[in-house]
Amino acid sequence: MSLALSPEQAAIFEAIEGTRDNVFVTGRAGTGKSTLLNHVNWNTEKQIAIAAPTGVAALNVGGQTIHSLFRLPIGIIADHEIDQNDQTKKLLNSIDTLVIDEVSMVSADLMDAIDRSLRQARVKPFTPFGGVQLVLFGDPHQLSPVPGDPEERAYYADHYRSMWFFDAKVWQEAGLRIFELTEIHRQSDSAFKGMLNAVRHGRVTAEIAGALNGMGARRPLPEEGAITLATRNDAVNRINASALAKLPGKSRMAEADIMGDFGGRAYPADAKLELKLGAQVMFLRNDSAIDGGPRWVNGTIGTVVELSDTVVVDIDGEQHEVEPASWEKFKYSYNPVTKKLVKDVVAEFSQFPLRLAWAVTIHKSQGASYDKAIVDLGARVFSPGQTYVALSRLTSLEGLYLTRPLRPSDIIVDENVRRFMSEAERERPVTARGR
Ligand SMILES: Nc1ncnc2c1ncn2[C@@H]1O[C@H](COP(=O)(O)OP(=O)(O)O)[C@@H](O)[C@H]1O
Ligand SMILES: [Mg+2]
Repeated sequence: MSLALSPEQAAIFEAIEGTRDNVFVTGRAGTGKSTLLNHVNWNTEKQIAIAAPTGVAALNVGGQTIHSLFRLPIGIIADHEIDQNDQTKKLLNSIDTLVIDEVSMVSADLMDAIDRSLRQARVKPFTPFGGVQLVLFGDPHQLSPVPGDPEERAYYADHYRSMWFFDAKVWQEAGLRIFELTEIHRQSDSAFKGMLNAVRHGRVTAEIAGALNGMGARRPLPEEGAITLATRNDAVNRINASALAKLPGKSRMAEADIMGDFGGRAYPADAKLELKLGAQVMFLRNDSAIDGGPRWVNGTIGTVVELSDTVVVDIDGEQHEVEPASWEKFKYSYNPVTKKLVKDVVAEFSQFPLRLAWAVTIHKSQGASYDKAIVDLGARVFSPGQTYVALSRLTSLEGLYLTRPLRPSDIIVDENVRRFMSEAERERPVTARGR
């Protein structure tokens, strides 16, 4: 890492390194949160673990998912017992500091589960996070935790003020110092930065919309070399299918083995996965191989180079044979009388852990930078922060393509985020050298 930290990044590094206080580093997209996180990774004297809520976000900062680090079950964890083997206990005992990127996607329930796991593993039942320092990076104006099924929503309504990590119960006991990075590094054009800021706060004027649409929606879309960021999975699937159709050669179909009931919710991978030689694919699971370390993680992109009984994928010039993976689906039922969730395995799904990757959902793009991208907001934007995340992936306005003009209804700001961000007391980062 040869990047020189800006003065504000350096000051926050000192606050993280020089204290054991819990810290939340926030700031607009591209203010260098993940960069500072990487700097901490390379320069800290402390024993740290790095984690993120999704595989793609973890990939971006060289961490692992929170669920795999803590070996947590999927879905709401509530006050269920947390199974910890010796290895997990040892690992959680060995750290001074837990660093989390993209914390906006961490739910209050997951935050509290992290707290309980650490207290349990470190046998410090009365100390928040078992005495571990938490360093959180993220922007609440970006994407939130994904709201689950109606039972999960009912659980939240009964137990939490909101789904956001900042409304976790642990913060009633634990302190959190908040720092805000202000200088944007991803984009250099101050006019574009101003437009993104307006989108972030829901203050888009007709003039700003005109400038974004004037560049984004009045040119033909590029035929190739630009990834598409779409709100919906079905748009992503359509784009990927048409790119696949354009490749020469015959396609092959891998059918998933499905047992039990997935209850109408999306499968963890395609039920019918169609592949061709030359197809651009993304991995959906971390590699389970232990010898020699994982060959890929959730989010790794590669190209299909062999298709017979097995699938061989080239990742950065190295070829790997890929085997089917299996996923278990849990079902929660919520009992409003006992206020408890009951959990059972209801289904299992086996498929190659691959999907086509000419397009991704905006959700999966959070944290990435693109010089050129086609933003497809579809019929409507449905999540707070979605439009902001998509547009702020672009390094310049010139690289922005829109499949349709932006509309006022595309800009949604979450009320809980407004509340937290207006009440949160930020410290001004000041270096020892007084900058
Ligand atoms: N101090 C810095 N000097 C130069 N470039 C930087 C600096 N900090 C971050 N960047 C660059 O800005 C871009 C966005 O940084 P990133 O850390 O991904 O932001 P965030 O996580 O806040 O969205 C990256 O391309 C990164 O290399
Ligand atoms: Mg980041």
